[in-house]
Amino acid sequence: MNIGIMTSGGDGPGLNAVIRGAVRKGVRAHGHSFMGLRDGWRGLLEDDMFELDTHAVRGISGRGGTILGTSRTHPYSGGGPARMRQVMDERGLDAVIAIGGEGTLAGAARLADDEGLPVVGVPKTIDNDLGGTDYTFGFDTAAAIATHAIDSVRTTAESHHRCMVIEVMGRNVGWIALNAGMAGGAHAVLIPEFPVSYAQIYEWVRSAKDRGRAPIVVVAEGFVPEDVDSQVSEAGLDKHGRVRLGGVANHLAPLIEEATGIETRSMILGHLQRGGAPTGYDRVLATRLGLAAVDLATEHRWGEMASLRGIDIAHVRMADAVKELKRVPRSRWDELQVLLG
Ligand code: F6P
Repeated sequence: MNIGIMTSGGDGPGLNAVIRGAVRKGVRAHGHSFMGLRDGWRGLLEDDMFELDTHAVRGISGRGGTILGTSRTHPYSGGGPARMRQVMDERGLDAVIAIGGEGTLAGAARLADDEGLPVVGVPKTIDNDLGGTDYTFGFDTAAAIATHAIDSVRTTAESHHRCMVIEVMGRNVGWIALNAGMAGGAHAVLIPEFPVSYAQIYEWVRSAKDRGRAPIVVVAEGFVPEDVDSQVSEAGLDKHGRVRLGGVANHLAPLIEEATGIETRSMILGHLQRGGAPTGYDRVLATRLGLAAVDLATEHRWGEMASLRGIDIAHVRMADAVKELKRVPRSRWDELQVLLG
């Protein structure tokens, strides 16, 4: 088989490990050849691709970003499925492995299920919000970077007897905040799934201060306080009309300072969380998903994606995986409570 492989949507640590895993297995176990599609669906729509052999993927699994480039090009733009089919015919491509988040996989599912294109998927997002898989690669790295940041600012917060509000990514879910907050020993963890009041936040901060601690608040970018209408977006919309979240830490810090009298600073981690080398866990998960995706393509399991179930690699229909966001469940929120304040 000749297989096209592409990365689409926001980048994330581990993409290169998927690509390497897929190419190594495809070439060595099945005798396939590969083309790297540049910048997501754009590469297929505009016939912008290059040959990917085992030499091209040598030593890349520890590198952040994606050697293929990425974009948020919509698969139904620029000629859509008909154009893709034409390019695939001309190039002799038998399958496409699409690596991406919810938007990418929803598009890939449609292409496979409604248009009959030979597409399989690999789930990716630092937000860990995809259904059909227990974890996505990139999440462990993002949470580790956020944990490291909490550890770092804690020493300054302690020296100055300050409160620090640290904002992490995650879009509409709180997985990064939850795990980094727990790992970093935060006194308040604020996530979109379980809104709390301003009064509760101030109480957690005061209680930590009363015990002689420098209060650490970890807030997910999508958090909205109880009885408040909308998320904070200091940057407005991106070029695709998506809300660019960010700024809730800047909103909260002066309120906390005013209400508690404790000097408070905010810090937004932003894209730091998506960059740099993937953790060992993410490299292994990404590699295993890459290996499995090639098997899916080899078996013509169009419309399916590789996923993680417990410690096993499984496969699910992409259309099912994108049906609803995987939010932090109440059990994870409840067990955290005794650690706050
Ligand atoms: O989905 C990954 C993510 O990093 C979110 O956590 C964040 O809200 C968004 O992407 C940022 O997108 P962009 O890189 O387009 O600003």
